[in-house]
Amino acid sequence: MGSSSLSPGVPLSPSLSRHPKFPNPNPNLFLLSHPSLTPISLRSNQLPSRSKKLLSPNAPTFFVAASAKAEPLKVIISGAPASGKGTQCELITQKYGLVHISAGDLLRAEIAAASENGKLAKEYMEKGQLVPNEIVVMMVKERLLQPDSQQRGWLLDGYPRSSSQAAALEDFGIRPDVFILLDVSEDILVERVVGRRLDPLTGKIYHLKYSPPENDEIASRLTQRFDDTEEKVKLRLRTHHENVDDVLSVYKDITVKVNGNVAKENVFEQIDAALTQVAEQRKVNSGSLAA
Ligand code: AP5
Repeated sequence: MGSSSLSPGVPLSPSLSRHPKFPNPNPNLFLLSHPSLTPISLRSNQLPSRSKKLLSPNAPTFFVAASAKAEPLKVIISGAPASGKGTQCELITQKYGLVHISAGDLLRAEIAAASENGKLAKEYMEKGQLVPNEIVVMMVKERLLQPDSQQRGWLLDGYPRSSSQAAALEDFGIRPDVFILLDVSEDILVERVVGRRLDPLTGKIYHLKYSPPENDEIASRLTQRFDDTEEKVKLRLRTHHENVDDVLSVYKDITVKVNGNVAKENVFEQIDAALTQVAEQRKVNSGSLAA
């Protein structure tokens, strides 16, 4: 891993409590800034190309906000299809112990169980469209409210994907501490989709080129998702572009944009720095509340 300007354990100075350029309408949120951090605009049409990277792994460009409550961490991770959400969730849960809640995985479990919801969901997933809210919203809410998620904190992956889904979370009083956006260029996304394989035994995500299986035994049992074709990822990308700005507008004050074009370890380094900063700020806040 390369060195990060925000390595874990770096204490935050008291001057990090509010970002001067971005007045925060929500008194429960604290915008964090750092000499190496610059607030950014979050338009989906500003995705960097492979040759023109806006961000480097050693210079993350983001700003974050943290809730003052000393509760378990609540994180949303977002990004285009195959941007690396699931891969990063594995690394984040290993370090932070959060409960990983993936909307896509919950839907695939319904499909595997051959439930009525699963049958309906598959029709939409095959077309690269969003599954109707009637199925998704309560499914995710119920998982978020289960005791393990409440006690250990949660890492929500692939939800919300529309303004109505974001509004539903807000209505339930469910708000993350930080919203991580993985930013990956489109040519890379297609390559990642086509080469992705899954181990049905362990649930581990592989890529034939970037993350190949460790041995022949694992290689022989890998499967491919039914929506992982070049044709279907283009439909999924279209759906993503239609909705992403609406979702980002709900979380813009707590968004951390991460360069997802680089190796998974370097992507995690950026996320880890951001989560460390949020966690540190929560400690500072809970300490000053207790004083
Ligand atoms: P979902 O399962 O969430 O799919 P997705 O958003 O399209 O994302 P993916 O799971 O495809 O990719 P990922 O970002 O997790 O990438 P991964 O880490 O695997 O949703 C599927 C469908 O369900 C949707 O199309 C929709 O129909 C429905 N749905 C889901 N949520 C919904 C909602 N809220 N509302 C309504 N409908 C919903 O990585 C991809 C590959 O790249 C892997 O092979 C990995 O090894 C490799 N890779 C990852 N990172 C790197 C890296 N840094 N460098 C090189 N390779 C990498």
